[in-house]
Parts: sequence; C-alpha cells; structure tokens
Amino acid sequence: MKAAVLEKTGVSPKFKIKEFSRPVIRNGQLLVKNYASSVNPIDVLVRQGKALLAVVGASSQIIGCDFCGKVIASRSRLFKEGDDVYGMFPIVKGGAYAEEIVINEDMAALKPDNLSYLEAGVIPLVGLTAYQGLFKVGRLQRGENILITGCTGGVGSAAVQLAKTVDAHISGLCREEHRPYAKELGCDVVIDYQQQKIPSGAQFDLIFDAAGKYTYSNLQHHLTEHGIFVTTRGETNNLKGFVKTTVDMVFENRMKFVMVKPNVEDLLNLKHIIEGDALKIKIAKTFLLDQLTEAHEMMEKGGFAGKIGVEIEAVG
Ligand SMILES: NC(=O)c1ccc[n+]([C@@H]2O[C@H](COP(=O)([O-])OP(=O)(O)OC[C@H]3O[C@@H](n4cnc5c(N)ncnc54)[C@H](OP(=O)(O)O)[C@@H]3O)[C@@H](O)[C@H]2O)c1
Repeated sequence: MKAAVLEKTGVSPKFKIKEFSRPVIRNGQLLVKNYASSVNPIDVLVRQGKALLAVVGASSQIIGCDFCGKVIASRSRLFKEGDDVYGMFPIVKGGAYAEEIVINEDMAALKPDNLSYLEAGVIPLVGLTAYQGLFKVGRLQRGENILITGCTGGVGSAAVQLAKTVDAHISGLCREEHRPYAKELGCDVVIDYQQQKIPSGAQFDLIFDAAGKYTYSNLQHHLTEHGIFVTTRGETNNLKGFVKTTVDMVFENRMKFVMVKPNVEDLLNLKHIIEGDALKIKIAKTFLLDQLTEAHEMMEKGGFAGKIGVEIEAVG
C-alpha cells in the first residue's frame, strides 16, 4: 500500500509517496482501506515541526488526522468487514495519509449514508471540535445568542450549522468575500472582521472562537453576565497575545479551551445530524495523495472557505 511520508519537518518539507507492506491489526482494531482525508491546520503545524507534541525526528512519518473508508479486516466486535467508517486519529499521532490504515475501534463510527467518502472525510476533526466546543465545553442552549469567529473556516462552518440545530441566533465573523457562504451556512448576522467592528452593544451567551485568534479579555465586554468564551487556540500568534491568553486561562473561569478528542458517541451524533441534512461542509479544493505538498501549501496560504479535501482513492 502507498502512503505520503514526511522524512523531516521544517519550513517547507515535501511529502514523498512510499510503498509499505500491509499493516497488521491487534484485538480491538480495524484495517481500513482509506479513500479520503483532509488538511487541517494542525497537520500543517506537525509538518512544519511546530506542534509541541509531535516528534518526527529523522525517521519517516505518516501524518494526517481525518479518514473515511471501508473496513477490510476487523478484530473488533463493533465493526465487520465491508462497513464504511469515518473518524479521526488523535491529533498528536496522525496516520491518515495512507491507503491502508489501522484504526482503534474507539476512533471510528459508521459513515453517514448521505455523503460521499470525500464529503464525509473532511468532517471528523472540525465537526468534533465544533460539537465538543459548542455543546460540551460551551454548554450552548436552545435559542441562545452566539458569536462564531472564523465562521466560514473548517471548524467555523461546522459550528454555524451545529448551532443552527438548536435554533441559536448566530453572528459570524469572516472576511467580506465569504459573506454569501456565511449566510448560506446559517449566520443571521455577518461581520467582516477586516473592516467592521462587532456592534458595541452586542451581547452573547457564548462566543466560540473557531478561528483561534482571540482571548477572553479581547471580547469579554460582548459576553452576557453568565456568558462563556470558548477558543480553539487563543490569541497565540504573538507574544503579548500568548501572555494574555495564558493569564485568562489561569484567572478567568469563563475562558475555556476546547481540545478535540476522537469520540464515538460524538461521531454518531454528528452522523445523525449529517443524515438529517443539517451538516455538510463545502470542499474548496480536492487534491490527490501525491499532491499533498500543494494541499498543505494551500492551507498555509489560507483565504479559502470550507475545507481542503484529499482523495486517496476515487470511489463512485
Ligand atoms: N484545539 C483543538 O482541538 C483544535 C481543533 C481544530 C482546530 N483547531 C485550531 O482552530 C483554528 C481554526 O481551524 P480551522 O480548521 O477552522 O482553520 P481554517 O479552515 O483555516 O479556518 C480559519 C478561519 O479563521 C478565519 N480568521 C482568520 N483570522 C481571523 C480573525 N482575526 N478574526 C476572525 N476570523 C479569522 C479565516 O477567515 P479568512 O480566511 O476569511 O481570513 C478562516 O475562515 C486553527 O488554529 C486550528 O489549529 C484547534
């Protein structure tokens, strides 16, 4: 089987396609023929050697989080050969950019029936981040008023659609050119973060910083008395922001951080929502496995809406 391999990390390392023998599975594991994956910002950080916990070193490594494909061998009582599954590897481990992958049974769920492998394969990491951030960490309630930053990005587009399932009133931040997609996703109010300010009196029960660009103290004046701020990353792209984020995390109990984890129950809830036609993410561009370096370069540049798909094998 083929896999896209990273031989070293750094500023712009390229993936190489290499042949491997078929992986062996243990009890509680599945062998999956992987048809689709995606590019997430964390995959780019791992590739660049900037992810704290990902130690790549000199040896080859297969990275990538999202997968979607067919079970070709099972040593799990939960799945059988022929099942279609989707899910994600833990973000520090990776392993999805390969034709055949070994999955622990607690990382996968049956794939939503109404999406193609590619459409389902771009959802797990961002869908779970949005689901866990909104409902488990942010405790979003029906009809609440919510602000979502980066509302047309991967996590943001999932978050807008999930918030809509509980009839939230949604304000979204994105750049002007993505306003039509933000509306299509379900935002009631769209604010161009490059040219507009959040209206001064606006108050939210939950601010979900899907973009991972803000910290509690940036936006606390827009929270209701019991409002919660949840971020995917905080304002960590500059030293001052990093310090502010750390102080907020330590001293502000309404500042929360979501750290996505593979979770079967959450994947099944997402499957149910997807099959109710309430969640689907636009694929901005699809790359083949041997074009993975270009796919990562597109993610580094940014500026697109939706997700970058990786088609490992075209299946009808
Ligand atoms: N903690 C976790 O478990 C976890 C899980 C998943 C992701 N993340 C992190 O979450 C972040 C978003 O991930 P993603 O997959 O959604 O990335 P993405 O698809 O690249 O989306 C990021 C979005 O943020 C928007 N944005 C950029 N600057 C902004 C600003 N100042 N204000 C408002 N929006 C802004 C971008 O909009 P424009 O392109 O229009 O500028 C883009 O739509 C990344 O930092 C990622 O590493 C963390």
